[in-house]
Amino acid sequence: MFKSILVVLCAFLFCSISNAQEKVAKREVLSLDKGWRFHKGDIPYPVIKGHNETYRNAKAGRVSGAASTTYDDSSWRVLDLPHDWAIEGRVTPDANLSQGYYHRGFGWYRRKFRLSSEDKGKHIELQFDGIATHATIWVNGTVLHRNWCGYTSMYVDITPYATYGDNLNTVAVRVDADAQEGWWYEGAGIYRHTWLVKRSPLHIITDGVFANPVKRTDGQWKIPAEISLYNSGKLSAAGEVEVTLLAPDGTIVTTQTTGCTVGALKEEVASLKLVVSNPQLWSPDNPTLYKVKTVVRQNGTVTDETETKCGFRTVRFDKNTGFWLNDENIKIKGVCNHQDHAGVGVAVPDALWEFRLRKLKEMGVNAYRAAHNPMAKEFMAACDSMGIMVLDENRLFNTSPEYVRQLEWLVRRDRNCPSVILWSVFNEEPMQGSENGYEMVRRMYDVVKEMDSTRSITAAMNGGFFSEYNVSQGVDVGGFNYQIDNYDRFHEKNPDIPLTSSEDGSAFMVRGEYKTDKSRNIIDSYDSESAGWGATHRRAWKEVAERPWMAGCFYWTGFDYHGEPTPFEWPSVSSFFGIMDLCGFPKMAYYLHQAQWREDKPVLELVPHWNWPVDSIGKPIQVMALSNADKVRLLLNGKIISEQQVDPYEMNTWYVPYKPGKLEAIGYKDGKVVSRTKVETTKAPVCLQLTSYRNSLAGDGRDAMTVTVEALDAKGRHVPTTHNMIEFSITGPARIIGLGNGNPNCHEPEKGNKRSLFNGLAQVIIQATEGSGEVTLTAITPGMKQATLTIPVNQVAPVPFVPIENPPMMLDKWIASPLALDRPDVTCQIADNDMNSWQPVTVSTGRGLLLENANYIIFRTEFTPYLEYQKEGGAILFKNLAGKAEVWLNGQLLGAKEVLDERDFKVELPAVKDKCDLRVLLHAPINTHVGLKGSVMLQAK
Ligand code: GAL
Repeated sequence: MFKSILVVLCAFLFCSISNAQEKVAKREVLSLDKGWRFHKGDIPYPVIKGHNETYRNAKAGRVSGAASTTYDDSSWRVLDLPHDWAIEGRVTPDANLSQGYYHRGFGWYRRKFRLSSEDKGKHIELQFDGIATHATIWVNGTVLHRNWCGYTSMYVDITPYATYGDNLNTVAVRVDADAQEGWWYEGAGIYRHTWLVKRSPLHIITDGVFANPVKRTDGQWKIPAEISLYNSGKLSAAGEVEVTLLAPDGTIVTTQTTGCTVGALKEEVASLKLVVSNPQLWSPDNPTLYKVKTVVRQNGTVTDETETKCGFRTVRFDKNTGFWLNDENIKIKGVCNHQDHAGVGVAVPDALWEFRLRKLKEMGVNAYRAAHNPMAKEFMAACDSMGIMVLDENRLFNTSPEYVRQLEWLVRRDRNCPSVILWSVFNEEPMQGSENGYEMVRRMYDVVKEMDSTRSITAAMNGGFFSEYNVSQGVDVGGFNYQIDNYDRFHEKNPDIPLTSSEDGSAFMVRGEYKTDKSRNIIDSYDSESAGWGATHRRAWKEVAERPWMAGCFYWTGFDYHGEPTPFEWPSVSSFFGIMDLCGFPKMAYYLHQAQWREDKPVLELVPHWNWPVDSIGKPIQVMALSNADKVRLLLNGKIISEQQVDPYEMNTWYVPYKPGKLEAIGYKDGKVVSRTKVETTKAPVCLQLTSYRNSLAGDGRDAMTVTVEALDAKGRHVPTTHNMIEFSITGPARIIGLGNGNPNCHEPEKGNKRSLFNGLAQVIIQATEGSGEVTLTAITPGMKQATLTIPVNQVAPVPFVPIENPPMMLDKWIASPLALDRPDVTCQIADNDMNSWQPVTVSTGRGLLLENANYIIFRTEFTPYLEYQKEGGAILFKNLAGKAEVWLNGQLLGAKEVLDERDFKVELPAVKDKCDLRVLLHAPINTHVGLKGSVMLQAK
């Protein structure tokens, strides 16, 4: 009497495959940053008991708990990514100092999104650019990715799991931010962008274009382009790949085409060669970028298309002469940095990369070491376009498959970047002076070289240099972290190994402080102290600058960072190493390096400020001039104190008996005045001032900028000794997303609307919302005139994004009884261990099920209503219900559909707290199609 429904289901499946029409559509890259639901803290997996539950829990698509498709997340906070929940909290002394005394822990994110029936047949990929620190990602109830590195992207092919139409897709991410991969602030959460990428079945894989120009020995350039294609279609696909080089002005330089055939579910590489004469070269001064446009066609129709930036430049490291860029011997003037910023932690808006790199460039930096991990791709793009060379560093030293995958990802993603001049496989690994370490590096070296033979590889060592086995034997360029006293010894013993400092300095300074007071965790800004293993700014540079075979330096660090608050602990919460503070406000070291590194403009700065208390009058104040002149003359209140020849390494120091007024410096070159500067004793502050370095924002919901707040005296002079608490308010299409003041000992929250000035300065970070209009930021403090800043927000097209859905509760996991000729017992028991009599069935496919020689079938689902419906009750809506139907809940009839034909049908759900057993008895004459052809959802009454 009962007949299997399998035959019918198989018939449908077969039919759809044989009729398969491969979808050809333009690539869509959509931001998935908006509208995530977030829960801070862990949600333990439910305890699974009983055969039925245990069996189901082990199946694809059937995960339980917060990762499941039907989990009730309606009470979770809604937010947009990038997000760092650690920085939203408060520092407390019981948390880890390395992580800046911020609390991390666990968190969950969920997002629903819709794919239309138009998307069916496309290749669908989710991309997470960075999650701190470990994460598990489920899509539609199946675990698809486990992330073991907080700095690598995850590209998750969800094509086989995707659902279309009303059946929304559910992404759930559990983040373990207790996991630590560094000894600096790492943040917590999905802190980089997320994307949904739709492509044709035959497409270029993510990061699948390798088009790095190489100079040939005959002086011509070639681009040996390798295009990695994947075919997610059901049939083998033949097509052609066209690669076109576009000049900076958009004109076509050259183009090549080749054929390709990619089997179903196979990857192939199409290789083409472009030859180019006399391109414009890329360099820090002229960061000229070209574009490689890659088009894939099938039967003349474009199936995929992408543009990749690249640059023409040569780089090489020489054992005697150091670094060469475009056959010019230049010194690397680099800084190391972590990736956080004041107020935002690691969730740094793209626009802030540009802000930070501008500051560095202005200082004379030409290189950046991404310490000690891959950076966001937007950061890499900014280095390419702004002309900052990058020492691109891998995070974890491990040669097992997962970690090799991470290294390969990094090289694949960044190998077209002209900015990348050197790969680093590790930083300071204890095994660096051992055979094990050497063996590991040898393998990592091989992995990198296989993918990019054009660049040198280093490893940043802080020891083991003279061991019988050490990793310098396994790389192209020896990387020295500190160990200045070993530079010469190593070079003598290893004259064939090119060398660079990969890290040096680690001197301490607190911005705007000029008296060390260890009882208050303050270190002066005269470059007087460094970590025991490091050197002052001046020594670190001198030791590199005077050795032609040292390719350059990477100063630790350009900016202060949260965590690792050396040389102090609590109450210090962030580092003291920065040339700039956490906000990017310059310390004295900024002008020192600027004087040493910028040859293209006169530099002259004086420290300290000239606002000393009355009891300092007559006492000597240490004064330093930072300049690139030949000679500096110092004057106090118009009277010459003295002139000094400039020492380009040490700079110039005077001890000047304090007298309020004006301290002036004049710089001379070849006897001529080339620069002037002054510091003046100011009056008391009377008003606030807000300044921005940009005069508009783009209304795309992402653009952001820093705004400086300071106090001025009646003559409009900056007062460097103010510490007032400032309150901010904002109106118009922008919001405040972070606050800072650069004080490493400050515990004020970095979110909110209040921040004290520290030595005269604080920073507000504002981010545009979508739209246009005028933003007004106001700063107030008692006793001073308030400041307002008005910034226009311009209408721009937002980054295309995946719309936010507020779905009802979808009931999409059903089983179906065998077919029956006679009316079965709708409330019949199904044995807990019987996994076979009833079969899982996919609903909402738009197709019905044939009652072959039968009249009845029962569909069944189990669910616990969302809290809202538990309290209020709701309605169950069956879309396109075909056949007569009875709807039963927990053994009670809720309603009946008396007509055969397909239509929407709704029954009321009473307020029920517990798990519900919902059954639909469908009946119709023999050999009729019935079924839950549309989606089934629980919604408000
Ligand atoms: C180095 C290390 C950096 C930082 C620095 C502080 O040894 O590579 O990450 O800790 O010391 O001086």
